[in-house]
Amino acid sequence: MWRNLWTMTGVVMALSACSPSGESQTDPAGATELPKTLIIAHRGASGLYPEHTLEAYSAAIDMGADFIEPDLVMTRDGVLVARHERYLSETTDVANRSEFLDRRTIKEIGGSPREDWYVEDFTLTELKSLRARQPRQSRDQGFNDQFSIPTFTEILGLVAITNQSGQRLGVYPELKSPAYFASIGLDMESALLDALMTAELDGLGAPVFIQCFDPATLRSLNEKTDWPLVQLLPATTAERLTPDTISTYADGIGPWKQVMMRFDGGPERYLALAHEAGLVVHPYTYRADDVAGGYESFDAELSTAFTLGVDGVFTDHPGQALAIRGGSD
Ligand code: G3P
Ligand code: CA
Repeated sequence: MWRNLWTMTGVVMALSACSPSGESQTDPAGATELPKTLIIAHRGASGLYPEHTLEAYSAAIDMGADFIEPDLVMTRDGVLVARHERYLSETTDVANRSEFLDRRTIKEIGGSPREDWYVEDFTLTELKSLRARQPRQSRDQGFNDQFSIPTFTEILGLVAITNQSGQRLGVYPELKSPAYFASIGLDMESALLDALMTAELDGLGAPVFIQCFDPATLRSLNEKTDWPLVQLLPATTAERLTPDTISTYADGIGPWKQVMMRFDGGPERYLALAHEAGLVVHPYTYRADDVAGGYESFDAELSTAFTLGVDGVFTDHPGQALAIRGGSD
């Protein structure tokens, strides 16, 4: 399942991290070195700034993150924009906007009805008038109502400029609810691939991973693109989708970190099975202000993941993760 040169290089480099030496290695093309464990800025530097804003992504880039991670949804007029949810009340000021009061409606989210404002009911112009908010009350609310919602194309522009400046930066887009959007006539797959092609990231040396929870979407993308694909694995599908199955259409897995840590044979076995199937492993999500698994600190939790040999981590706190990873590797 190895794909185009740049992205294949990234995958191979990440896999090489599993070697006992733990050394980063030189790109076979001789151009650069890639880190042995990728630091993926989850929704940007979302621990500090409202998630999925150019400001949050830029902060992560300034920290030196290897990838920025936009979750993508689609507007009524078919534009990919960065939001984690289709509904908007938790990450924007939409509830305070009287002109959009009549857009509030009830739709199904995760099998339950939810009264909210939905991205697919807004044009890009309307959406651009909203301002982002920090959804976690425990985090800094001081940046609320300042930043707008970026399009995927704007995010790719940021990636391009960063790479043109000499800093290696990858982009790791996730398609959210692609089957739902397709059911209302919005084709996320084509929009994603068109945007990536237009951005010409190959020529800039910018690595790309495409991720999704939906295996059908990844299988479809596998027929259309050489960009490496990552199957996200929540607890509910982790047992059904084995590494051997996933390796027929994807290049990596993004498991919920506890899926890996609580695996029957232990996390070492989990990683070995994935690697034997040729898959990189990028678990999610490591948060300095929400340490899991009984660890006493973010440092302890993340250091354990690094020692186990994960190939990358999704984290809301890329600056701290980079410091824990250490050096340039
Ligand atoms: O994409 C990795 C991780 O973000 C998946 O979970 O729900 O935070 O998008 P979620
Ligand atoms: Ca995501």
